[in-house]
Amino acid sequence: MLSCLTLAVMHDGDEVHTIEGIGLPGNLDAMQRAFVDNDGFKCGYCTPGQVASAKAVVEEIRANIPSQVTGDLTATIAFTEAEIRERMSGNICRCGAYANILAAITEVAEQQT
Ligand code: FES
Repeated sequence: MLSCLTLAVMHDGDEVHTIEGIGLPGNLDAMQRAFVDNDGFKCGYCTPGQVASAKAVVEEIRANIPSQVTGDLTATIAFTEAEIRERMSGNICRCGAYANILAAITEVAEQQT
């Protein structure tokens, strides 16, 4: 869920994950490392949300949760460009780093399969 589309009061008692809980400067999470290695950001303004969403996208696809672009609902969902782009579509990057963000997510998905 995008934090800008929900109220904190709606999640009293829920488990909430934010970028502060993902990796440390000296010990980056695999997704953060992939963003660095693939130049997945420029100004960095959108990066915390992109990384948090990217991690959720990998978990969603791995859990075989369909998206708007999933064709066969009975088959195992693949880490395709269309699936990743659709699931990341709510994250806007004014610097236009989308191609490199896609590369970072694909790299992590391929490493963890
Ligand atoms: S890196 Fe600048 S807005 Fe995404």
